[in-house]
Amino acid sequence: MSDKEQQVSRRQFLNYTLMGVGGFLAATVATPMLGFAIDPILKVGGDENMVAVGDISEFGKEYKRVDFKLTIKDGWAEYDRVYSAWVRVLDNGEVQALSPVCTHLGCTVQWSPDEHPNQFYCPCHDGLYDENGINLPNTPPTAPLAVYQYEVREDGKLYLGQAISREELG
Ligand code: FES
Repeated sequence: MSDKEQQVSRRQFLNYTLMGVGGFLAATVATPMLGFAIDPILKVGGDENMVAVGDISEFGKEYKRVDFKLTIKDGWAEYDRVYSAWVRVLDNGEVQALSPVCTHLGCTVQWSPDEHPNQFYCPCHDGLYDENGINLPNTPPTAPLAVYQYEVREDGKLYLGQAISREELG
């Protein structure tokens, strides 16, 4: 190939330059859009927030039931879901916030000290848990009640998040 054939013509140079600049601009615009589009997929398990369920001073040694709404972001979907929790504060200041969902078949467990002292009771199949939400032997539930993530923030309020099984907590 001669030197003359290897030289880039003015037209070719312009083509290359325009293609390069065009490609750069396209990548600059497309990259953030692509990231925005697939970002929800990369968030495994969705994104949950925490909500205030009351002033921490409202809770004592006896369990109190609270109902609250969490906004769940799962992929592109965002929806509100209502949860309940049995909440108490131990002598050492630790908060116990237990899910009322029975680990047998999902009925709602009750804390009614008059009928079942120091126990959670599930009316569906007579399931029993101790006061810490640990399932009692020889009753249908095979796992403890799940516990809610919680925070007591500077504003003095108790915030609850997602319920986590004891297995996940380790
Ligand atoms: S659903 Fe609670 S004991 Fe069966």
